[in-house]
Amino acid sequence: MVLELAIPGFLQYKPDQDYKIRQQIARGGTATIFLAKIISPEMKTRVNGSPLCIAKILLNKDPTKEEIASFSQEISIMWYFRSSKNFAKLLGFTTSPATIIMKHYQRGSLSDLIYNDQQNISWTSHLIFCLLKDIATGLREMHDNGFAHCDIKVHHPIL
Ligand SMILES: Nc1ncnc2c1ncn2[C@@H]1O[C@H](COP(=O)(O)OP(=O)(O)O)[C@@H](O)[C@H]1O
Ligand SMILES: [Mg+2]
Repeated sequence: MVLELAIPGFLQYKPDQDYKIRQQIARGGTATIFLAKIISPEMKTRVNGSPLCIAKILLNKDPTKEEIASFSQEISIMWYFRSSKNFAKLLGFTTSPATIIMKHYQRGSLSDLIYNDQQNISWTSHLIFCLLKDIATGLREMHDNGFAHCDIKVHHPIL
């Protein structure tokens, strides 16, 4: 016997009711990334600590079938790795507009760390080793589970 599986319904958020969009913080290849705040008591109980989160909204307001497929795939993969500390944490999603809600990582991407001069980072070999190790560990976990990232670049490790 086998059990049929589905992405759980509790991951489906309601825009404006469960969270409010704040300012835009980045723009990716497929989506605009906004800081958002979880406001409904029900959703607040699921995030321990800060109500701040990220709302990643698909750029195309009228997405093609392929864009919807890759949006759904991203949610499924994030859900698959939900217990891992190596991947960005999925909190939920909305379908209209197509939005992924996830944990906000305050320090931004590796790109911000390298190119934002104001951060005053001391680039010790220990720090560089730790960053490389985290990337290698995440990739190894993906590969062990039959996934390939295929888009490793300085914007994708988030801290
Ligand atoms: N959860 C997050 N916390 C903080 N910054 C994020 C988060 N997700 C994305 N970002 C920022 O947004 C940028 C683009 O996000 P990304 O997921 O790569 O979008 P896309 O899939 O459209 O390329 C990242 O490089 C990073 O700077
Ligand atoms: Mg990207």
